[in-house]
Amino acid sequence: MDLNLNGKYAVITGGSKGIGFGVAEGLAAEGVNVFLIARGKERLDEAVAKLTKNYDVEAYGISTDVTKAEDIAAAVAEIKQQTEVVDILINNAGTGSNETIMEAEDEKWNYYWELHVMAAIRFSRSLVPLMSKGGVILNTASICAKQPLGYEPIYNTTKAALVMLSKGMAEEFIDKDIRVNSINPGLVLTEDWINTATELTEGTDRTYQDYLDEIAAENAPINRFATPEELANFYVFMCSDKASYSVGSSYYVDGGWLKTIV
Ligand SMILES: NC(=O)c1ccc[n+]([C@@H]2O[C@H](COP(=O)([O-])OP(=O)(O)OC[C@H]3O[C@@H](n4cnc5c(N)ncnc54)[C@H](OP(=O)(O)O)[C@@H]3O)[C@@H](O)[C@H]2O)c1
Repeated sequence: MDLNLNGKYAVITGGSKGIGFGVAEGLAAEGVNVFLIARGKERLDEAVAKLTKNYDVEAYGISTDVTKAEDIAAAVAEIKQQTEVVDILINNAGTGSNETIMEAEDEKWNYYWELHVMAAIRFSRSLVPLMSKGGVILNTASICAKQPLGYEPIYNTTKAALVMLSKGMAEEFIDKDIRVNSINPGLVLTEDWINTATELTEGTDRTYQDYLDEIAAENAPINRFATPEELANFYVFMCSDKASYSVGSSYYVDGGWLKTIV
């Protein structure tokens, strides 16, 4: 299937590792030039080196804290120095949380609001004017937007807000021929999961893999985590004009974990 993506430009927040880097690789394999946005410079440099070594594309790493409006403005200025057109925006930077509603301070709520919601608003507001007809915005939310995990109410709430934001963006931007959707992953095997599993099993007779297998068996009918690449395949399709009628939806890529039908 020719996805007609060759030569396009994509901006991917949280693009230095995990799902974001998987999407960057998937798009680069289709000939898409990429801007990777994340805080850590070293990981950005490694990601850019890997992409430019393996694919015939331009890749740029822009060190940015997406919770800061001034950092986003600086990143957008850097993007504009390289290209006049942006075709694809993946608002993906994010992370889990762990708290109770009674104990979490306002600062923590505000941080996650900036990370999961305001960053998507600020990047979209800045880049939509540069977007070509047929532009695509994908927001990485989570299955937790609909099916919450009890230990992370701030994560659940801000990801649910991101899904509603995607709906609003979709309605507003379709007049400009820009399609917006959210993608709600389930369990995706990233370094964070491996680190957590390693910590939790250290000094026990279980391996980190035992822990991950248990989590998968408890939650996902498919009985395993997804790889970032499996997620990325879906993103790449959604970025292409083969998904031209997909507007304002939330797509669950979760191995069957979601237990509701509406
Ligand atoms: N993995 C899963 O099972 C899963 C499931 C559902 C949803 N998700 C969502 O998928 C997205 C990606 O998650 P992942 O699992 O791929 O995580 P990951 O491997 O930890 O990658 C997170 C990426 O976001 C960047 N990032 C984090 N905070 C940032 C900030 N303040 N400013 C700029 N960049 C920031 C990180 O780089 P720096 O730390 O260097 O900034 C990194 O590039 C997140 O929104 C997450 O909520 C993940």
